[in-house]
Amino acid sequence: MPLSCAFVRGFLFTFLLAISASYIFVVPSLKHTFNGDNISQSNKLMSVCDVSEGSWVRDNSYPLYNASECPFAEQGFNCLGNGRTDKEYLKWRCKPKNCAVPRFDVRTILEWLRNRRLVFVGDSMSRSQWESLICLLMTGVEDKKSVYEVNGSKITKRIRFSSVHFSYFNFTIEFFRSVFLVRHDWMPRHTPRRVRSMLILDKLYDISSHWVDSDVLIFNTGQWGCYFQVGSSLKLGMSIPDVFKVALDTWASWVERAIDRK
Ligand SMILES: *[C@@H]1O[C@H](CO)[C@@H](O)[C@H](O)[C@H]1NC(C)=O
Ligand SMILES: *[C@@H]1O[C@H](CO)[C@@H](O)[C@H](O)[C@H]1NC(C)=O
Ligand SMILES: *[C@@H]1O[C@H](CO)[C@@H](O)[C@H](O)[C@H]1NC(C)=O
Ligand SMILES: *[C@@H]1O[C@H](CO)[C@@H](O)[C@H](O)[C@H]1NC(C)=O
Repeated sequence: MPLSCAFVRGFLFTFLLAISASYIFVVPSLKHTFNGDNISQSNKLMSVCDVSEGSWVRDNSYPLYNASECPFAEQGFNCLGNGRTDKEYLKWRCKPKNCAVPRFDVRTILEWLRNRRLVFVGDSMSRSQWESLICLLMTGVEDKKSVYEVNGSKITKRIRFSSVHFSYFNFTIEFFRSVFLVRHDWMPRHTPRRVRSMLILDKLYDISSHWVDSDVLIFNTGQWGCYFQVGSSLKLGMSIPDVFKVALDTWASWVERAIDRK
């Protein structure tokens, strides 16, 4: 991997190029909201279930939605719409090794989300998951016009921040672009051309204050070659796993500090 920051715009396949990780941070109070029904059952299951270990299994009842019928699926992510002819790739379900994830039941999830705010933060993989979840949920909404981007903005790969409101259920599902979770800056003009940009490993974007007041926060990031700054020094040639760890430590201490778990 080259050291200079080959900055590709619109990281469509970040997860293929980079070490990649997803973290789901569920505010614990949510777990107590649904005592007695199947969601609390699922939570109990999920708390002992390592969802990072498992495999893909075929499921002929898939896909769960049709991207061509969902106004929130951006064109770049709609393979069939872009001319892909085989459909088999749509029929895979992720199966954790030691447990069963309950089937996606759109009515239950829509009710569960009522009056809540769900926030995705990350790169293009986050954006595609955000779009997918919206499309999944729309299959349970009859009046499609009751679901809209709050400012009427179109969903494209360029969005930095977008919020989709489900008006009958009074919840929003939001996306914030933060490709590295930590701050990414362009270099001043006089620096050598090959040092175009860098990551500031000990800082998040100020916009992180907008993530705090949400009910569910979902993070994702991928990392790749770049120059890195810690404190005031510019580090050249740090290994990617070391850098990734520093960035995730910054992110984790932000979670500890900023998120009110109550
Ligand atoms: C809860 O799960 C059980 C077993 O999977 C099922 O029989 C029951 O109908 C579910 N209850 C609700 C309210 O969905
Ligand atoms: C998805 O929807 C489009 C437009 O309504 C339709 O032409 C296409 O056949 C559908 N695809 C699948 C796999 O159902
Ligand atoms: C809608 O949800 C918000 C929380 O996201 C809540 O403050 C507000 O009271 C809700 N509105 C209604 C009409 O329930
Ligand atoms: C919508 O527009 C308002 C006013 O310009 C702005 O404050 C807000 O951040 C925008 N929200 C989104 C999701 O773009």
